[in-house]
Amino acid sequence: MEPAFPEENEQIDRWLARPPEHVVEAVKNHSGDYLVLGVGGKMGTTLALMLEEAIRLSGRSATVTGVSRFSRPEVRAALEAEGVKTLACDLASPAEIAELPTPTNVFFLAGQKFGTTEAPEATWIQNTIVPSLVARHFTSSRMVVFSTGCVYPFAAVDSAGCDESTPLACQGEYASSCVGRERVFTHFAKLNDTPVNLFRLNYACELRYGVLVDVATRVRAGDPIDLTTGYVNLIWQTDAVAHAIRCLEIADCPPVPLNVTGPHRIAVRDIAEAFAQRFGTEAKFTGTPADTAWLSDAAKSHDLFGAPPRDLDWMIEAVARHVAAGAPLLGKPTHFETRDGNF
Ligand SMILES: NC(=O)c1ccc[n+]([C@@H]2O[C@H](COP(=O)([O-])OP(=O)(O)OC[C@H]3O[C@@H](n4cnc5c(N)ncnc54)[C@H](OP(=O)(O)O)[C@@H]3O)[C@@H](O)[C@H]2O)c1
Repeated sequence: MEPAFPEENEQIDRWLARPPEHVVEAVKNHSGDYLVLGVGGKMGTTLALMLEEAIRLSGRSATVTGVSRFSRPEVRAALEAEGVKTLACDLASPAEIAELPTPTNVFFLAGQKFGTTEAPEATWIQNTIVPSLVARHFTSSRMVVFSTGCVYPFAAVDSAGCDESTPLACQGEYASSCVGRERVFTHFAKLNDTPVNLFRLNYACELRYGVLVDVATRVRAGDPIDLTTGYVNLIWQTDAVAHAIRCLEIADCPPVPLNVTGPHRIAVRDIAEAFAQRFGTEAKFTGTPADTAWLSDAAKSHDLFGAPPRDLDWMIEAVARHVAAGAPLLGKPTHFETRDGNF
């Protein structure tokens, strides 16, 4: 694995987006262009840049276009500097969606989680009305729709977690709206015979955000870690995005759900202690681990595309170095400890 860890934002973006060989091979066999809806968020840059680089390495000719409102304008500039085309669009506006091109391959990453407690109506618009507008516009595209492991009920922490056959639950306002997102895409996919993958992701991590950054920064500051959510599933963002690109191959009608995360159920206490050891400090804790958590069994995705190559030790080492160096963070906590669904 790479010996050095970059610290500057632009280098990190390029480093996270390096496509593995199997993605380059997959892109070689794709046809048509790519659209990334919601490119301006935490995962969109990695996805758009990985597609761009995989196309270059594959020798294929195709364009990648990123769509967002671009509330962080620096993201737009960074994408364009790397050859990604961009279109500013509010996907909640039918008039603006009507202007979007309809290429062969579409990734849907737009959504809302935070702010649900203060304005639940906005979360429902973003997670159900926007999907209905998007699904009706891209009827002839192949779609990977980003979803979440929060669509499942809590699983016992000593189990393998929920798999794709587990009936969905509506646990709290945010998770309920995510079930709504899947239902809306499924309805229109069946109506229009659109191939769709429902990409049920549990906690992507990179150097600047994620559960590992949340725990590392708290340990370093001497703040206690809440252990009520005692276990999580994690996947490095590069590996999650590689699986998202591969999911174009399994999109079908009716939509195909796929759990995407790492192979292990990870104890939050163990993560905190590993960071404390690296920082030469002691981790402080509060709360008692519940006997259930949002945990997913991603064995099917590992069978299809291989297990994510970056393991927990590597991820902890990467994040510990980054946080200890005082390198840039996104400042967007995951609130992984929240169990009542009020984000
Ligand atoms: N990151 C994770 O660990 C994780 C875990 C589970 C599930 N997911 C799912 O994966 C998806 C992508 O994750 P993420 O972390 O990159 O999410 P994110 O940071 O919230 O990014 C989504 C982006 O979509 C854009 N967007 C939202 N509403 C829009 C609208 N009406 N029109 C146009 N653009 C809009 C926003 O950028 P602008 O403000 O620029 O428009 C936003 O930053 C999310 O939908 C989430 O449900 C992520």
